Amino acid sequence: MKNAKMILDRAFTVSKVDERIYGSFIEHLGRAVYDGIYQPGNPLSDEEGFRKDVLDMVRELQVPIVRYPGGNFVSSFVWEDSVGPVEQRPKRLELAWRSLEKNEVGIGEFARWAKKADSQVMMAINLGTRGIADACNLLEYCNHPSGSKYSDLRISHGSKDPFNIKVWCLGNEMDGPWQLGHKTMQEYGRLAEETAKAMKIIDPTIELVSCGSSNLDMPTFPAWEAVSLEQDYNYVDYVSMHNYYGNKANDTADYLAVSDDMDAFIRSVIATCDYVKAKKRSKKTINLSFDEWNVWFHSNEADNDLMKNHPWQVAPPLLEDIYNFEDALVVGLLMITLLRHADRVKMACLAQLVNVIAPIMTEQGGGKAWKQTIYYPFMLTSRYGRGTVLQPVLDSPAHDTAAHEDVKDVATVAVWNEEKEEVAIFAVNRNIGEDVELVTDVRSLEGYHLAEHIVLENKDMKAVNSAAGEAVAPVSTDRSRFADGMMTSVLKPATWNMILLKK
Ligand code: AHR
Repeated sequence: MKNAKMILDRAFTVSKVDERIYGSFIEHLGRAVYDGIYQPGNPLSDEEGFRKDVLDMVRELQVPIVRYPGGNFVSSFVWEDSVGPVEQRPKRLELAWRSLEKNEVGIGEFARWAKKADSQVMMAINLGTRGIADACNLLEYCNHPSGSKYSDLRISHGSKDPFNIKVWCLGNEMDGPWQLGHKTMQEYGRLAEETAKAMKIIDPTIELVSCGSSNLDMPTFPAWEAVSLEQDYNYVDYVSMHNYYGNKANDTADYLAVSDDMDAFIRSVIATCDYVKAKKRSKKTINLSFDEWNVWFHSNEADNDLMKNHPWQVAPPLLEDIYNFEDALVVGLLMITLLRHADRVKMACLAQLVNVIAPIMTEQGGGKAWKQTIYYPFMLTSRYGRGTVLQPVLDSPAHDTAAHEDVKDVATVAVWNEEKEEVAIFAVNRNIGEDVELVTDVRSLEGYHLAEHIVLENKDMKAVNSAAGEAVAPVSTDRSRFADGMMTSVLKPATWNMILLKK
C-alpha cells in the first residue's frame, strides 16, 4: 500500500464553480437529434416528439447549458431552413458528415427541448460559409422581442417570447483544415471581431466565445489564440478549447495520464490569453470555454467507412463510441482537471450528449435508452461538484508512463457546497497496480463528518454497459473512516472515488 496526504482548508479556495462547467453538446450529427432526443411516433416520446426517457436522463445529469447545432455541422448550416412550417423546410446535403439533413428539428424546436431539459442553449453561428449578416439575423430572430423583420418572423412561427440565448460561439474549429470555410488566424480574427461587434450592438447582454484551437496538437497552436484574440479581444468574453482523448496504444497506465495533457493545455491557453491582455494593457480577462471534451476513438474506422461508402443518409449511426470502464475513469479525471481550473474555465461541454460520443444511448429502431459507463462520473461530479473549489495541498507518490513523466498516483479535487453543507472529494487512483491510502486533513471543516464513499470500479478495464445491463455503475463502500478531523480513505488501483462529507 502506498500513502498520500492532503490538506483541505476552507480558507484556501480556487474559485466558485460556474455551473456551466457541466455543459454538454448536441450536434446535427448521426443519431444525436433524430433517433436521439427526437423521435415522433415512439410511445416513449411526448406530444412534440421529444424522447421523455432521454429527457429524464439529461435532467438527472443536471446539464445547465447545451451547445447547438454544431460542431462541424454549423459551418454550412443555413438557419433559415430550420424554422417555419416543418412541411416547407428543405432537405439539405450536410457536407461535414456527408449526411442528409431533413430540418425537422431546428432553432425553435431545440429551444423548446432545452427548456424541457432544464437547460440553456449555447448557440454556435456559421462563420464558415456565411458571415456577419446571417449571424445578426439569427440573433435578431432569437433574442429581439418584436417589431423587426426577424423577431416578427419568430413570432409568426409561434414563439411570441424571445429565446434569450445568452452564450454564442463565433464559429467552430475555424483553425481546422477540415472545417468548411476554414480560415487563417488573421482572417478569423478580423471576421470574429466584426461579427462580435455587430452582435453586441443588437444585444449587449450576450456573451461571445472566440474560436480557439481544435486541439493541443494543431500546428497553429498557440499562435492562433494570440493572433485572433489580439483582433477580437474587446468584443469577446471567452476563448474556446476542444480536445478528445483515447487509448489508441492500449496502454491503460498511460491513458490515465491524459488528464495531465488537458491540464497543460489549459495552462497554456490561460498564459496566451494573459499575454494578449498584457500586450493590450487591458483590464479585461478572457476566460475559457472548454466546449468540446471527451473520449473519442472507438468508432473512428466505422465512421470513415460510413461517410465514404454510404453517404447522404438521414441520421446514420456515426460516432457511436461504446465506452468501457477505463474511459469512465478518464472522464472522471478530465472533470477533476476542469474543476481544478474553475477560476478560469467557466464553461465546458461534454461532447456530446446523446448517441454521438455520448453518455446516453438509445437503441436503434426506437428501443430503450441506456447509460454508458461515462454517464456516472459525469452525473456524480455534476451533482456534487457545485459550490467552491478548495485548493488541495497534496503530497502523492508518482510514477512514469510511456508518454508521461511524474504522473501523480492520486488526481483529486474537492468542492465545498456551503449552502448544502457538503464537501465532495473526487479522487482517482491512477496507479493501476497498488492501493493508495489517502489521509486528508479536514480539521478546518469543523462539524463535518463522513457521509459516504462512493466508488466506480471494475477488474476489467474493458467492461462496458449496454441496453441489456450495466457492468459499470457506482457503489457505496466502507473504505473511508473519519476520526479527529482526519479522513483516511483507501483508493483501490484504477478507481474513481467520491468521498462525501456532511455537517
Ligand atoms: O464532436 C464531434 C466533432 O468534433 C465536432 O463536430 C467538431 O467540432 C469536432 O471536431
